[in-house]
Amino acid sequence: MTFAQDPETAKFDGMPRSAIDSGCIDFVLSPEKIAEELSWMSKHPTLRRKSTDSHQEPKDDDHVFNSILNLVSTSQGADFSKYKPNTIHRRTQQRMASLGIASLVGYLTYLGGHPEEAAKLSNHVLIPVTEFFRNPEVFEDLTSTIYPAIVGEYGKETIRIWVVACSSGEEVYSLAITLLEFLGAKADNLHIQIFGTDISEKVIAKARSGIYPDSAMKNLSGDRIAKFFTKETGGYRVNKTVRDLCVFARQDVAKDPPFSNLDLISCRNFLIYVQPELQEKIISTLHYALNPSGFLLLGSAESAASYPLMFTPLNKKNKIYSKKIGNHRQQRTFKTSRTPIQASVSPPAKARPIARATSGWSSCNPASTGRRRSAARSCSAWCSKSTCRNCGRPVSTC
Ligand SMILES: C[S@@+](CC[C@H](N)C(=O)[O-])C[C@H]1O[C@@H](n2cnc3c(N)ncnc32)[C@H](O)[C@@H]1O
Repeated sequence: MTFAQDPETAKFDGMPRSAIDSGCIDFVLSPEKIAEELSWMSKHPTLRRKSTDSHQEPKDDDHVFNSILNLVSTSQGADFSKYKPNTIHRRTQQRMASLGIASLVGYLTYLGGHPEEAAKLSNHVLIPVTEFFRNPEVFEDLTSTIYPAIVGEYGKETIRIWVVACSSGEEVYSLAITLLEFLGAKADNLHIQIFGTDISEKVIAKARSGIYPDSAMKNLSGDRIAKFFTKETGGYRVNKTVRDLCVFARQDVAKDPPFSNLDLISCRNFLIYVQPELQEKIISTLHYALNPSGFLLLGSAESAASYPLMFTPLNKKNKIYSKKIGNHRQQRTFKTSRTPIQASVSPPAKARPIARATSGWSSCNPASTGRRRSAARSCSAWCSKSTCRNCGRPVSTC
């Protein structure tokens, strides 16, 4: 088990924050709570055995563990088989400890009899830690170098950004705020779409609401709060001007179709949790989804250095890359999602209304011209069988 001091309780929060950013921390607690947790864990039989005898795992455990993953995958639609096993093991043990269950077999039996536990395990494994302006220097760098490059393109009418694994939306809104600040009055002449997706419906619902508790506002200046938020009972709500740019949807980046024609993709603090094979598949998906001059932003503990044919590093510290074209030939096929992505309740600013999907996926007919063609090209991830989710028209005509 790994612990980090809750940054809220630390005099200097740099160290705990970077430990939390590494993705290896199981518990973020105050010093008093860490002591309580350690004392409780030392009395828990499963955790005691693991710490003294971890190299002698019973072989049957692998089998039982796979059954647990299968059960979660079937009931929650989240396939954790390509996630880093240590994280999944630790998280499962934490659920077992909190239920007072000492063996994996016991936990599998419990899962069978308590359908709600699969959702709890799934949520616990997903680690939805996020905050507004996480690693603030990244947003400064976007404003000084990346946004000018995106907007500087001749005749640019639309800006499309995708935040993969966006959790409860703070990162999406942080990007929207910085982009609005950068654009100023020019924002009125551009069609801005910022898509935020995550595998968890629960966090996506929170992101859509745009309501955050007072404690979530600590990284925001008074000016930003005054300009972009409205005080409500129990917290702050992101203003409609910002919310209207953002579209949230459930999406499993490991298997669902991506968006396309994107200027910037932010995929931060998610790849650290998955095995290299799945990392490569996702990086390749993101490369495919970017337009030829697009940019990729990763988390501080992540890197695209192993994919030099797909991405060129622009800022190694802040993990910003530009898409490379020409060297990487790929043909991607995407399986239809088990559950169609649910569109956001609010359509993006100046966009035609996005129709709600009714079943499955299909692409728009690209054989159109002018503005229609650009809408058709850019809507592959937003189509239902009959209606294009990007432009709101019947697939056959958009
Ligand atoms: C640590 S959070 C990162 C949040 C945000 N990007 C940030 O950096 O602050 C990781 C997120 O990845 C999401 N996630 C995990 N597996 C996913 C998948 N296959 N597809 C999409 N999102 C996924 C989790 O639900 C969780 O919200």
